[in-house]
Amino acid sequence: MVNPISVGLLGLGTVGSGVVKIIENHQDQLIHQVGCPVTVKKILVRDIYKERDVKVDSSLLTTNVDEVINDPGIDVIIEVMGGVEETKQHLLRALQQGKHVVTANKDLMALYGSELLAAATENGCDLFYEASVAGGIPILRTLVDGLSSDRITKMMGIVNGTTNFILTKMCKYGSAYEEVLAEAQELGYAEADPSSDVEGLDAARKMAILARLGFSMNIDLEDVQVRGITDITEEDLNYGKRLGYTMKLIGIAHREGEKVEVSVQPTFLPDSHPLASVSDEYNAVYVYGEAVGETMFYGPGAGSLPTATAVVSDLVAVMKNMRLGVNGRSAVAPQYEKKLKAPAEIFSKYFLRIHVKDQVGAFAKITTLFSERGVSFEKILQLPLKENGLAEIVIVTHKASQKDYEDILQQLSDLEIVHNIKSWYRVEGDGK
Ligand code: NAP
Ligand code: HSE
Repeated sequence: MVNPISVGLLGLGTVGSGVVKIIENHQDQLIHQVGCPVTVKKILVRDIYKERDVKVDSSLLTTNVDEVINDPGIDVIIEVMGGVEETKQHLLRALQQGKHVVTANKDLMALYGSELLAAATENGCDLFYEASVAGGIPILRTLVDGLSSDRITKMMGIVNGTTNFILTKMCKYGSAYEEVLAEAQELGYAEADPSSDVEGLDAARKMAILARLGFSMNIDLEDVQVRGITDITEEDLNYGKRLGYTMKLIGIAHREGEKVEVSVQPTFLPDSHPLASVSDEYNAVYVYGEAVGETMFYGPGAGSLPTATAVVSDLVAVMKNMRLGVNGRSAVAPQYEKKLKAPAEIFSKYFLRIHVKDQVGAFAKITTLFSERGVSFEKILQLPLKENGLAEIVIVTHKASQKDYEDILQQLSDLEIVHNIKSWYRVEGDGK
C-alpha cells in the first residue's frame, strides 16, 4: 500500500471532532478515491485533558502549534480552531513550508482570503475553504466549477443558521427573541459570541466570500452593507404575515452591468419565494445565472458532521491534486475590477411602519413626500392606535432607489405629523 497522507488538525471542537469521525468512518471510501489511506498525525488543542466528543489517542494532542506546522511528515493542515490574526500567521507559516491548507474559517477568509490564496499559489499549495460558507452545502465549488461557464448576476442567501432559527421560531410561534437566541446557543448553532450572528456580521463575511467568487471581483468585508435582526418586533412580523411576507436575514449580492451591491439585512420575502420556506437552522443560497436562470442550493449550514463533510471533501480535492501533481493551480485571480453601486443605483421595494398624528391631511403630507420622488405605493394599511390620537400606517412601496428611500425617511422624520418611524425593511423576491 502507498504511504498514507498525513493530516495535522488545528482544533478538535465541534467541527474538528466531525472531521476525525469522517476520516475514520469513511476510510475505505477515501482510499478508493485517492488511492492511499488518510491519517490524522497531530492535533492542536487548548486543553489536552478536556473531555471530547470523539476518541483520539492522547499522544496525538498538543498545545504547541509548532509540533503540527513544523512536522515534515504532515502534508495537509486542516484549520478548524477559529480566530483571525494568530491563525492567519499559523496558516502562512504552513503554506511557506509547502503544506496544503483546508479551513472552515469565514472570519479569516473574509478578511485575509486574497492574501492567503496568493501565499498558497506562491508556494505551490492548495488552500480550500468550502466549509466557510453555508456549512454542509457545497456552494463554493458550485460557483467555481458547476456554474463556471455562466455569468452569475444575483445571489441571495440565508447563510446564518442561528438567525434563521430565531426568525423561524418568532414568525411561526410568536416566540420571544431572547428566549430563542438562548435555545440556539444551547443547540450549538450560535458563534461563541452570538453578536456576530444576530448583528449580521457572520452572514456578511459569508456574502463577501460568495460575491468574490461569484462575480470574480475583489469584494472586501467593508463593501458589505450590514444590518442584523435585533430590532425586529412581533408587530413587524405580524404585519408581514398579513401582507403575505416571511421575514428572513437575507444576504444579497447583485450585479448589473459592471457594478455590484452586496448587503445583509432583514428582508421581507413573499411567502411563495423559494427562500421563504427555508426554516430553522437550515441555509440556502439562491443563484441566478444569465444562462442557467434560477437555481437554489439547500442544506445544513452548521453542525459537526455537515461542516466536517465539506472540510473532508476539500481534503479529498487536495489529495486528488497531489496525485495529479497540480496543487496550487486552482486559485484564479479576480477577473474584474471592483465597482460598487452608489445608493442611487440600488433598487428595491420597501416596507415602512410609521406612527402619525391621526388628523386631517396627515396621510396627504406623507404621500406627497413619496410622489415628489416618484416612489409609488404597492400596498397600504392604516389602523387607529389606542394611544394619544395616533394612527399606524404600513406602506409597501414599488421599487425605489436606496437614495430616494433614505431621503424620504429623513424628510418623514422631520414632519411634524410623524410621531415615530417604527421600522422599515427591504422587500425582495422578484427573481433576477
Ligand atoms: P470550537 O468548537 O470552539 O472548537 C475550536 C477548537 O480549536 C477547540 O478544540 C479548541 O481547543 C481549539 N482552539 C481554539 N483556539 C485555540 C488556540 N489558540 N490554541 C489551541 N487550540 C485552540 O469551534 P468550531 O465550532 O468547531 O468552529 C471551528 C471553525 O469552524 C471556526 O472558524 C468556525 O467559524 C468554523 N465553522 C464552524 C461551524 C459550526 O457549525 N460549528 C460551521 C462552519 C464553520 P479546546 O477544545 O482544547 O478548547
Ligand atoms: N454561527 C454560524 C451560523 C455557524 O449560525 O450559521 C456556521 O457558520
